[in-house]
Amino acid sequence: MPTTTTTPQPRPSDRPRRLRTSPALRRLVTENRIDPAELVLPMFVREDAGEPTPVASMPGVVQHTEDSLRRSAVEAAEAGVGGLMLFGVPATRDAVGSCATDPAGVLNRGLEALVAEVGDAVVVMSDLCLDEFTDHGHCGVLDDAGRVDNDATLRRYQQMALAHAAAGAHVLGLSGMMDGQTAAVRDALEDAGHHDTAILAYSAKYASAFYGPFREAVDSQLQGDRRTYQMDPGNRREGLREAALDVAEGADIVMVKPAMSYLDVLADVAAQSPVPVAAYQVSGEYAMIEAAAAQGWIDRRRAIEESVLGIRRAGADVVLTYWATELATWLR
Ligand code: PBG
Repeated sequence: MPTTTTTPQPRPSDRPRRLRTSPALRRLVTENRIDPAELVLPMFVREDAGEPTPVASMPGVVQHTEDSLRRSAVEAAEAGVGGLMLFGVPATRDAVGSCATDPAGVLNRGLEALVAEVGDAVVVMSDLCLDEFTDHGHCGVLDDAGRVDNDATLRRYQQMALAHAAAGAHVLGLSGMMDGQTAAVRDALEDAGHHDTAILAYSAKYASAFYGPFREAVDSQLQGDRRTYQMDPGNRREGLREAALDVAEGADIVMVKPAMSYLDVLADVAAQSPVPVAAYQVSGEYAMIEAAAAQGWIDRRRAIEESVLGIRRAGADVVLTYWATELATWLR
């Protein structure tokens, strides 16, 4: 017969569960929370649109008319959203993206409309890139061999920057991933006296499959990919290098994009950056959660909140998300 051994009652020396016992305690000690003020809503405005056009792969997102853009901006402002990031969808495109620098072009007019509508109450940001405006869909102009010509593109970005600043944009979002773009745009702005127009540099922007739905949202003309200018998804160290270059060139805010598959890069950049760090929860990240929620496979609201909280926890000061208005409404 085995003798019965009396084991001592286990007693953990530490009880982290103590601080999880009630909603009030959890709320008190939470390390990170989301504030509507740090959310930025990306928006699309389409030239010659008779009415808002839904983007099929992004349920809830539309290509706006100028009117619906204004209404949606007011709604975001009322919810407490901190910023708006505008993309333009032109009716005609050409090799150099002429519409991008035309003061009457869809994006420049849209920026004017936003500034007129929300004034200084919400930060108005512009997407400064040529891909929506070129007939080949690349983020820059091409050389004779059909390659994206870095330095010729910088001239176009400078012209775009002046158009956006003239339209009243508070922050220019440089998303083209050309070398030297931050310095080139900063120079052009300073020369023209736009000292207070800020630059949000898309510093670590990866060549990602998660931009898929966005390409529908802007009617992208791209054949092929952007791997000669956007970053290789395998690279972590390079994200720090790109962010450091942008800071040295005068960026006021740096960004990591996409967010959810690049939280390590975001944490690295946040740990070293002397300027605020933004992260962009991109179209494919939005579409994945919406699609799973539509199937009833995940709890939509909890998944949205958790995904944005994860981006904040990794170190983002500012989060661009298509859920900005809805999320801000929940948080109030
Ligand atoms: C380039 C730009 C893109 C996105 C933002 N700016 C597309 C790309 O680089 O291919 C993607 C945003 C998203 O997927 O939500 N103008």
